Amino acid sequence: MANPDPEFVAFLRAYPTYPATHMIDDLRANEYASLDIGGHVYLDYTGGGLYAESQLRRHNQLLVEHVFGNPHSSNPTSQAATQLVEHAREYVLRFFNADPDEYLAIFTPNASGALKLVGESYPFPNGRYLLTFDNHNSVNGIREFAHARGAEVTYIPIALPDMRVDASQLDRELARPSKNGHNLFAYPAQSNFSSVKHPLEWIEKAHKNGWDVLLDAAAFVPTSRLDLSEVKPDFVPVSFYKMFGYPTGIGALIARKSALSKLHRPWFAGGTITVASVQGDKYYLADGASAFEDGTIDYLNIPAVEIGLKHLESIGYDVIRERVHCLTGWLLDHLTAMKHSNGIPLVRVYGPTTTEGRGGAVTVNFYDKYDNALDHLFIEKQANEANISLRTGCFCNPGAGEVALGISRVELDVCFTRPGHEDRLSIDDFRLCIDGKSSGAVRISVGMVTNFNDVQGFLGFARGLLS
Ligand SMILES: Cc1ncc(COP(=O)(O)O)c(C=O)c1O
Repeated sequence: MANPDPEFVAFLRAYPTYPATHMIDDLRANEYASLDIGGHVYLDYTGGGLYAESQLRRHNQLLVEHVFGNPHSSNPTSQAATQLVEHAREYVLRFFNADPDEYLAIFTPNASGALKLVGESYPFPNGRYLLTFDNHNSVNGIREFAHARGAEVTYIPIALPDMRVDASQLDRELARPSKNGHNLFAYPAQSNFSSVKHPLEWIEKAHKNGWDVLLDAAAFVPTSRLDLSEVKPDFVPVSFYKMFGYPTGIGALIARKSALSKLHRPWFAGGTITVASVQGDKYYLADGASAFEDGTIDYLNIPAVEIGLKHLESIGYDVIRERVHCLTGWLLDHLTAMKHSNGIPLVRVYGPTTTEGRGGAVTVNFYDKYDNALDHLFIEKQANEANISLRTGCFCNPGAGEVALGISRVELDVCFTRPGHEDRLSIDDFRLCIDGKSSGAVRISVGMVTNFNDVQGFLGFARGLLS
């Protein structure tokens, strides 16, 4: 046997499908060599994916062998750039199995850029904005546009220990859309805090009740297939670096054309118009994706998106899903079993403790043998010293954080209305204010090229915190 380690043998016994993912081990050795050369234990895939060397080579070759000009011109070099960008755009739709008659792919700087496009353009007056507590700040931020334009904003709570949504409350809210305005419902396909996969069935249910649906897929698509011929959300933001590491700085808003036609852009910019006049004080927006792509798009890097999508396809979501399932299961099994000598558990998991209906991020806080929480910043410092890359804090998901950490509305009101804190509150001020409670957690996230040694490395680190 290649690896006689008894723990590996036990792992294979518990997760017998793991060897079916061995192509990832070969790939990692050849294409992600810097991980192991550098002795890195990388466990922040929800923060950012990693890139294969071949992605860089292919992209570099493309740039070296051609000349590309600004696509807003129409000379030969700009036509060459346009051709590649449009090819990448078509490829994005094909990757998500989206019918080009039904969906458009708009390139944005990241998922947040895609979300802002929706927020600033959605016809909120007299309407409603419904969203789950469990959402990234870039989805929460849309509420400011909704408030400013007089929409009713409603949050649907999530509950411990699994941090899933109370379905009856969601049903109740979905059943009462505004009759005088438009209704937008936003939730993450996968939580970037607890890794819960929220049901995709909500999309159809919301549509039946007259809602447009914004499905934040940023944390979902790095390890799960989103098939837009099966589910039909109206707006889908993604960040490509989360899927395959390179390039950074490009995301997309994949939008249903019927929903997109409801949006009213608050301004125009270079590239978004057919005609704009100074003396005539008039402008005409371009058709399709162009109307939403402000200025010059990142035309040299957009072709690398197609390279990355093809790389992900060459591995396949089935293999990635199996890999993530096995390693997350082993991580959860062992982390939740760790106890101090007096029986006090080492960690508290925020979210599901089995692999059912969840992705590959495990969010916890560590406790000492007196059951006192260890500060997440202390854990991060220790992990850094062991060359383990993980993420701590609230991961830009304050709603899930407040529920997980038991921070109440009243406590928050007290902090936010303290003299001197009406306009400014630093994270240190906030930590002081909720004195005695954790202000964050530790997220360990498994991804496309994680291996058994990475997870064992982390479990060994965790074991070192036992007393
Ligand atoms: C679920 C989710 N939505 C949105 C975002 C925002 O992505 P970006 O920072 O790339 O704009 C993130 C990033 O962590 C995320 O996890």
